Amino acid sequence: MREGYEGTGPGAITPDGCAVELYTRLSVGEEPDIISAAVPAGARILELGSGVGRVTHPLLERGFTVTAVDESAEMLERVRGARTICGPIEDLDLGETFDVVMLASFLVHAGDVEVRRGLLKTCARHVAEDGCVLIQREGPDYHTNVPRERLDPTGFTIRIVSAEPVGDGVDSIHAEYVFPDATWTQTFLARPLTKEQFEEALGEAGLRVDRYLTEDGMWVRAVKG
Ligand SMILES: C[S@@+](CC[C@H](N)C(=O)[O-])C[C@H]1O[C@@H](n2cnc3c(N)ncnc32)[C@H](O)[C@@H]1O
Repeated sequence: MREGYEGTGPGAITPDGCAVELYTRLSVGEEPDIISAAVPAGARILELGSGVGRVTHPLLERGFTVTAVDESAEMLERVRGARTICGPIEDLDLGETFDVVMLASFLVHAGDVEVRRGLLKTCARHVAEDGCVLIQREGPDYHTNVPRERLDPTGFTIRIVSAEPVGDGVDSIHAEYVFPDATWTQTFLARPLTKEQFEEALGEAGLRVDRYLTEDGMWVRAVKG
């Protein structure tokens, strides 16, 4: 387990506290639409932190080719139809480039700045000269509108219970996923990033914002340079 990260509930738990079985139950939202609208048809996508393939599978169905990377073998075992690579994103060096590199699920908010740098450098190392990097950022009130909860239409409750400062601008977030037959929790470290801080972090990795894809600024298309 990564330090500061923890998960509870049935089944395997990843080093960042995610539950494999929970992710097999979560349905996909608007992600495939946002991604498809921002990249060329049939693009070769490198998806970093793919989990069980919640987003991977709809992308494959839309005709993209996906290489899915995750440090959890138990997550990757559930991925169908994509090339899979197991290991930390920070260390990835495939010696090839992709039309699109995806870093979703707020991974760019990693508590450890060195991990964040590593993630963004991996994005930069694997994106083709004329390709793009798609990044999903947290919403602006993620750390302040707490506690909050949402009843998902598929019949479970997601609750962000607390966001406790642990120093150096990092919060420890505690989340619960309550289903009628099971409950999972995840505790993880997340660093809020203003737009300026986010853009500076991109710059350090040799990337820059091409455009914000959604009005809330959560999905970003970045390019080299
Ligand atoms: C919150 S889950 C999201 C999975 C998927 N993107 C989705 O939206 O369903 C995050 C995933 O990223 C993986 N992960 C997190 N940090 C990682 C890292 N530094 N290297 C490799 N995998 C990582 C975890 O193992 C987990 O499967």
